Formats: sequence, structure tokens, C-alpha cells
Amino acid sequence: MSAIGSSPRRDWTCWDFVLPAISESSASRAALPADVGGVLGVGVAVLDLIQEVTSYPGEDEEVRAIAQRRVRGGNVTNSLTILAQFGHSCSWIGTLGDDAAAAEIRMELVRQGIDVSQVVQIAGGTSPLSSILLSRATGSRTIVHYRDLPELDAAAFAEVSLEGLAWVHFEGRNPVETEQMIRRVRSVAPDVTISLELEKNRPDIDILFDGPHVLLAGQAFARARGWQTPTVLLEELAGRSRADLCVVAWGEQGAALQRREGPIQQVPAVVPPRVVDTLGAGDVFNAGVMDGLLRGLPALDAVRHAVRIAGAKCGRMGLDLRDLA
Ligand code: ADP
Ligand code: FRU
Repeated sequence: MSAIGSSPRRDWTCWDFVLPAISESSASRAALPADVGGVLGVGVAVLDLIQEVTSYPGEDEEVRAIAQRRVRGGNVTNSLTILAQFGHSCSWIGTLGDDAAAAEIRMELVRQGIDVSQVVQIAGGTSPLSSILLSRATGSRTIVHYRDLPELDAAAFAEVSLEGLAWVHFEGRNPVETEQMIRRVRSVAPDVTISLELEKNRPDIDILFDGPHVLLAGQAFARARGWQTPTVLLEELAGRSRADLCVVAWGEQGAALQRREGPIQQVPAVVPPRVVDTLGAGDVFNAGVMDGLLRGLPALDAVRHAVRIAGAKCGRMGLDLRDLA
């Protein structure tokens, strides 16, 4: 049976009903079962060059950065970073170039305890790079992302070991290939929970709606489809997917979720005293949902946990959340 076991403890039938504040003890303190399997993340790793500016500049302006950082980024690898900090055994599969950035990315993942032994290296390939402006005034991040590396394909994924896994998380990219990967996990490892991130509205992405147990959607995806609220997104997904659980993160408004044929439930954001860095908030949120469900929390509590750690992340620079584990 997948990790989405029990039903929500109560039925909240109205989107406008704001749930009580999260109790820390109920969510993040549930022990990680000793025999829980590992998490495999399928997606990208990126070199992030982050420059912090006092406020976001206008076009054709020249401004000085007040700080800079050079870190490994990428949605799925960011989520794995958090999961590793929370005690999960993590591995990443994706493509990398054979350039200096690739070496840096690998080294950072290994340092974080994430297994990269199955990564596919593309000879002559350039590793993905993001130029990121982080505004000190608002904590907002503006990302310019470059990639020309081929995506991981189903043939490469067919070689990847699924031994000892409890969870496989996919970024919703390269849908035709990803659909085959999901089918492989479903048939070779039927007990493994499969989640899919819907961050961008890519061509053919609809073919991925039906395979995963958990759909993790974002605001940009929803808006690109013309679905202007979390409720509309969840209603639309419910009509297109048989996933056990659909979750949508909605920035500073928090998140919403719906178990299959259950009510839509809303979880308000946990806002830190000062928002300093929202880079990777969605990736932390996704990790929180996975972590919560792997600890056996009901879906609602897993999402509350995700909202809490994503909020905490927005209140600090970077992705070190070990004190919350
Ligand atoms: P992304 O990083 O993919 O753009 P979101 O902006 O939707 O993702 O944020 C993901 C989650 O992080 C939200 O659901 C919310 O729980 C939390 N979050 C984001 N921005 C804030 C904020 N300003 N204050 C508190 N929590 C936030
Ligand atoms: C944040 C992030 C960055 C990366 C970009 C890729 O969510 O993963 O680390 O540069 O998005 O789209």
C-alpha cells in the first residue's frame, strides 16, 4: 500500500474555513519508522548564482549586489536536500554535463548525503545554470534559468535500481518519457508511492495526471492553465486524475489539498517574522509533504507540516533546516 493511508481526521467542507494553527508536536515530531524505504528524486540539478540586491532593479539599470552565493539548486535536488536533513535515505537521478559545474553539483550532493551514483553524464554537455536576483526588500526571487542538456529518458531510467525505495518523486518534465518511467515504477515496485510536481504547464503534461499517487501543483502551473484559484485547480485535477491526493501550494496564502473524492481543505501559510528568501520554498514544501506522509501522518497534517517548514524556510537564507528535523 502506498504511503497515503488513512483518511483526514475530520471533514472540512468549505474552502473558506481556515484550519487551526498547526501544532508542532502533531506534525514534525512523528518518528520516522526505522524500516521506511528511501526516496528517489527524478529531475534536475542546477548551479544557482544568487545575487542579493536591496530591491529589484529596473531594466537597463546597473546596481550593486549586497551579497552573493553560489549553491547547488534544482527543484528535486532541493527537495532531496531537505529530506536528507530529515533523516531520509535519498538518491537523485538526472542528467549532468561533464563541465566544472557538474563536478561542483555532484560534490555538493554527496556532501549532503544524497546518492548520485546513477546520474547520467552527458559528454560535452553544459550543466544547467540559474542567475537569481534575491530582493532584500521583499525576499522575492527572480530566476533566469539556462539549460540545453537533454532530459533523462525512459531508457536511462529503466537501468535505475528501485530496490529499497518507499517513494519516487518526479518533476513534471519531458512528459512522454516520464509517463513511461511512472509506468515502470507502478509495475516493478507497486508498493512505492509516486509523486509528481506540476510546476509548469508543459506540452503533453496531461498524460501524467493519472499515474502518480500524489500530485503536487504550484501557482504558476495553475495560472498557466487559466485556473485562478486553488479550488479551481483541485476541482479540475480531480476530474482528470485518479491520484489519491492532490496538493497545491499558493505562495504566501499557504496551500490546499484534496484526497480522492474528499473535500477541499485549506491550510494558511505560516508567515515568518520577516520574509528574507523565498528561493526554493516550493521545493521545501514538496519535501514536507513527502516527509509527513512517510512518517505516517494523515494528508492534512502532512500538508500542515509542509506549510510550516516552507514558512520557516522563507524566514531564513538558504536551505539548512536541520534544526527543524
Ligand atoms: P515556489 O517556490 O514554487 O514559487 P510557492 O511560492 O507557492 O512556491 O511557496 C510554496 C510554499 O511556501 C507555500 O505553499 C507556503 O506554504 C510557503 N510560502 C511561500 N511564500 C511564503 C511567504 N511569503 N510566507 C510564508 N510562507 C510562504
Ligand atoms: C528553485 C529552483 C532553483 C533553480 C530553479 C530551476 O525552486 O529549483 O534552485 O535554479 O528553481 O527552475
